[in-house]
Amino acid sequence: MSLPRPMQGKTVVITGANSGIGKATAIQLAKMGATTVLACRDKEKGETALGEVKKAGDSAAVHLMILDLASQESVRQFAREFESRFRRLDVLINNAGVVLNKREMTRDKIVTAFAVNYLSPFLLTNLLLPRLVASAPSRVVNVTSALHFKGHLDFKDLQGKKSYKGSDSYAQSKLAMVLFTYELARRLKVTGVTANCVNPGAVATNLGRSDAGLLGAVMLVTTPFLAPAEKGAETPVYLASAPELAQVTGKYFVDKKQQVSSHESYDQIEARELWDASLKLTKMSKTA
Ligand SMILES: NC(=O)c1ccc[n+]([C@@H]2O[C@H](COP(=O)([O-])OP(=O)(O)OC[C@H]3O[C@@H](n4cnc5c(N)ncnc54)[C@H](OP(=O)(O)O)[C@@H]3O)[C@@H](O)[C@H]2O)c1
Repeated sequence: MSLPRPMQGKTVVITGANSGIGKATAIQLAKMGATTVLACRDKEKGETALGEVKKAGDSAAVHLMILDLASQESVRQFAREFESRFRRLDVLINNAGVVLNKREMTRDKIVTAFAVNYLSPFLLTNLLLPRLVASAPSRVVNVTSALHFKGHLDFKDLQGKKSYKGSDSYAQSKLAMVLFTYELARRLKVTGVTANCVNPGAVATNLGRSDAGLLGAVMLVTTPFLAPAEKGAETPVYLASAPELAQVTGKYFVDKKQQVSSHESYDQIEARELWDASLKLTKMSKTA
């Protein structure tokens, strides 16, 4: 007789699950018995990953859904479809991310790195919140980066109109993710939904690889010294599944340990200002 697996009966959504840390996270959680939803922007890449993750888990419990975080309509469509297909949501892992050397805009007129790395995860989380609350105890896991320490939010220029640098835009979006995590944790205190964030460390993935700028070059040169994706997935998997974290919320984790994030990330006034700005940018009327 096989033993029950730790994530059996739990439903997990992982964004950017076709590559790098997201795929490694999906494989681990599928192995642990979770119903695993791979939220990917590209159907072909998603289907290739789906095959790999199915081999790791119970193939009937691994699903692919299309989600393009550069489009708020795609985020809304994903949330509607998810609600119609799945009755539970135990863990949402906002993992997808990009580094873009050039200032690109989404069709919603948002700077793409900010949209993909922070604003659409904000929208997605809020749209899926009723499912998370109904499935509580449940968890939101936000993937940020050590580079959030270099980030700063300039509310007069969130869209990088005055000046744009790929590394600054990335750092800003990753700081926004930490501020969002802490604010979400405060707002969800009595719901049984926790929100934590993770810096997965320096990991050899596709991140920044297509970038023609300095960041792309740095990623390529440093690849042999970086950890494999499986190592990068360890802390997201830990945050998604560890029983001892059931009550832990509003924390920043590195290597499965709570750590202190940047000084700015603890600014509650800034976090509320970011929340309000995000409501306007996503045209949401009601959130947590
Ligand atoms: N690698 C590191 O050293 C490191 C360090 C700190 C933090 N992180 C963070 O870890 C997370 C995972 O990145 P990774 O290193 O595993 O990089 P990766 O291999 O490039 O994976 C990024 C994932 O995000 C997806 N994505 C990009 N744009 C998207 C969009 N518009 N809509 C939906 N999905 C989109 C990508 O899809 P496509 O394959 O279709 O592009 C891919 O699946 C990111 O948040 C990243 O910032 C990474």
